[in-house]
Amino acid sequence: MAKLQISRRAFISRTAILAGGLTAGVRIGHVRAADPPNGVVFRVIFATDSHLMVNNQLRSEDGLVAALSMIGSVKPKPDLILFGGDLTHESPHLDFPAAEQLIDRFLKLWKDNTDLPTFFTFGNHDLVGTQNASVNRGDPRFGKGLYRMRLALDHNFYAFRKGGWRFIVLDNVLSEPDGSYIGEFVEEQLAFMRAELRLDPQTPTLLCGHIPAVSVLPNLSVCGDTKTTGTNIQSPASLLAHNASDLHKVLEETKANVKVILAGHLHHLEQIRIDGISYINGGAICGNWWKGAHKGCAEGFVVLDLSTDGSVAAEYRPYGWKAAV
Ligand SMILES: [Fe+2]
Repeated sequence: MAKLQISRRAFISRTAILAGGLTAGVRIGHVRAADPPNGVVFRVIFATDSHLMVNNQLRSEDGLVAALSMIGSVKPKPDLILFGGDLTHESPHLDFPAAEQLIDRFLKLWKDNTDLPTFFTFGNHDLVGTQNASVNRGDPRFGKGLYRMRLALDHNFYAFRKGGWRFIVLDNVLSEPDGSYIGEFVEEQLAFMRAELRLDPQTPTLLCGHIPAVSVLPNLSVCGDTKTTGTNIQSPASLLAHNASDLHKVLEETKANVKVILAGHLHHLEQIRIDGISYINGGAICGNWWKGAHKGCAEGFVVLDLSTDGSVAAEYRPYGWKAAV
């Protein structure tokens, strides 16, 4: 059972939706989980949304280095970092040389400031040139191309196993021809996930995709807004994946032992528990896009302790960043 601990400084808005008779599991506290998981613990840092800016604007480079320094001081030492997307900020607006420079700067800062193995997730701000009319749409670096090249990925979705757990990273950013995007779990990735989960449905599994499958933050106007038309309440498909029900169907079909579904994108901390699965939106390294805490959710990252018995302890750790503005 995942327990999300939130330090008081970071806390302003938390949600816990109870379903299937489970307890909320959301705690406010600090340091270690009150109920550490049983069995061997595999420690994962979930860091997301660093939004590194061109020319170190808003001291975003310094902030990223500070976050990595704090990750480096986490004890016991984490086994890996899972990054939730939006490595860089302006890439959709840049031309190719500028976008190359920005992602290369990010990767250099990353390499120079952590020796932990890192697995990356694609975010909407990692699209290159999609909001720049002057760039060549046929260039292999356009859209998702540059990210794949620099991270040497055949696909933005992949699976790996470590510490007795299975990790599945998805890319649920669907770029539209007009430069906008929506959150969608596309069929190719659902099929990949279905096949992967059927291999050994009993293995405890963590999924990660940049755009959340579920969130009440738009309902609360903490991140975006819902819109009411007559009796319908609608959430923008740019904030939440519009077909999370398709993801859920795969979980039902495979009866897989999925315990955690991580997301970034909304820059706020949230945990929703449904039928034994914790959906965690993991705050943001950059907080409010490097302009301070995001409505009270401080710049930070999540420490996840994954036990071989499938239990999870989670804690949000602010890294004490003082914004430039
Ligand atoms: Fe973001």
